[in-house]
Parts: sequence; structure tokens; C-alpha cells
Amino acid sequence: MGDQDNARNGVVITFFSTASAVGKTLIACNMASEIARNATVCLVDLDLQFGDVANYLQLQDEYTIADVERDMNVQGDSCEVAPFLTLYEHGQVAFYCLTSPKDVAEAYNIKTKTVQQIIRQLQSMFDYIIIDTTSMFSELNLAMLDMSTIVNFLGIVDFIPTIKNMKIGTDTLKRLGYDTQKIRLVLNRSDSKTNIGMDDVERVLGQPFYHILPNDFRAASQSIQDGVPLVLSNGSTRLAASLRELVDLYTDGRMGSRHQEHQDAAASHSLLGRLFGR
Ligand SMILES: Nc1ncnc2c1ncn2[C@@H]1O[C@H](COP(=O)(O)OP(=O)(O)O)[C@@H](O)[C@H]1O
Ligand SMILES: [Mg+2]
Repeated sequence: MGDQDNARNGVVITFFSTASAVGKTLIACNMASEIARNATVCLVDLDLQFGDVANYLQLQDEYTIADVERDMNVQGDSCEVAPFLTLYEHGQVAFYCLTSPKDVAEAYNIKTKTVQQIIRQLQSMFDYIIIDTTSMFSELNLAMLDMSTIVNFLGIVDFIPTIKNMKIGTDTLKRLGYDTQKIRLVLNRSDSKTNIGMDDVERVLGQPFYHILPNDFRAASQSIQDGVPLVLSNGSTRLAASLRELVDLYTDGRMGSRHQEHQDAAASHSLLGRLFGR
């Protein structure tokens, strides 16, 4: 973790979807791990009721975001988030996590304003902030989409309702005026058995997938069981390679000290960026 430095303005990468169990948490954990090889990272679990980050990484988290909320209510703006973070370490890779409340009831007490303040503070401390969310157009999630540099709108093409909900999601984001360049459609589990053609889905959604991740149930389950993200433990699988490619697209293959250039780089070098003429 770097020292507090107001000049720093960490890149915020959010995972969002309109269906559950599409791989947000798994991919967020992998992205945090891969980026952490070369930059400072904080992974924030905003699935406040049913967060999985602590499980997927087998964290012994002493504090959660609920403790930050309590402290902020006492300290106000002088509340520091750092003492409430949990370190994840595997080999040479390390990053910080802000985990979700342990008690479902505590989730109700977390105010959107608090979370906005937390993210701003983390932006001054870390190069990258990775946010895991839930499948809902809630006030909190919309606030996080607003604060994001990049939104991974994740989907799987398994059956018609999922696609319908993705369509509703993309249309809603457009209607709400979100910058289409920051919303990246990412398809997960692409080669799972289905009769639905990818071209048809892209036509329905009105835009192409920015990145496509393969299906690998065994590697995904094993990584959750071991508490070690695929890119760290099972790096030779196609899924790990594809996860690394996604990180490269967002970091433009030039991580670390050049993260400040990231926003422009991501916009101008991305597929969406090219399609939209930037
Ligand atoms: N590319 C993939 N291939 C196979 N299984 C996957 C893949 N991505 C995720 N999964 C599995 O899908 C399930 C849901 O993933 P998760 O990350 O918890 O979804 P979400 O956070 O969107 O609810 C997990 O059991 C995970 O192992
Ligand atoms: Mg999840």
C-alpha cells in the first residue's frame, strides 16, 4: 500500500451484471491478482449481503466494510480506511481487500455516501481499485458505475432470459447516459453448451463483446476450493490466459508507474474505443 498521496488517482474497475453467478467475483479476484504483480491494488466487495471475496480468497478478515461505516459515523471525514483492509498474499503477489459485512443485517446500514467516500480515499492510496458488485440497478451500484473508469458488464449466453436481462441492462445504461466507452461487455463461459449463436446475441445487444472468456468449470472450481485465483495457481489454462489478456487490454500491457496514462490508453486502444472512433 502506498502512502497517502493526493496526487494519485487510482483507476476504478467495476464488475457488474444483470444476472447472478456469471463470474463477477471470480474474475474480479483474478484481475486484482494479475494487476497486483506490477501495481498496488485494492479489491472491494460490494456484494454487501452475500459477498464471496473473503471465501474465494480464504481471507481471515478481522474487519469489514461494516466497521468502516461505524468508524465513519464517529470520526466523520477523518476516518481512515487503511486499518480495515485485509491483505491477500500468494508468493510474490499481494493486494488489499475490503470485505463485505459478516452479518447480513449490517449490510442495511452501509450508506452509499460512505462507500463513495471509501472509494475516493482508496483512489488516493492505490493504483487500481477493483469493485465487485451485485446484479441490481441499486443506488449503490449506480453510484459505483459513476465513479468507475471501466465497467465490466459481464454476461453468459446460456439461455434466453439471461440475454433478455443483458439487453435490458445495456439499454438501461445507455438511457441513463453512461458513457458507452466505459461500459465493456464481457462474455464469460463462452463455450459452455448452448444453441444460441454469439452473432445473434451481439446483434440483439447492439454492440460486440469486448472480451470473451472460455468456460473451464474444473479450473474455476479448483481455484475457489484452494482459495488461490487461477492466474496465480493454474496459469497455463486457457481461462487464465484469457483473464491475463483482459488485464492487458485495461492496462495496455504497461502497468505500474504508467497507470495514470491508463484512462486515455484504455479508451484509445480498446475495441470499443476504435468502434466509437476514439
Ligand atoms: N469461465 C468460467 N468457467 C467455468 N466456471 C466459471 C467461470 N467463471 C465463473 N465460473 C463459476 O461460476 C460460478 C459463479 O461465479 P461467481 O464469480 O461467484 O459469479 P457472480 O459473482 O457473478 O455471482 C462459480 O462457481 C465459478 O466457479
Ligand atoms: Mg459474486
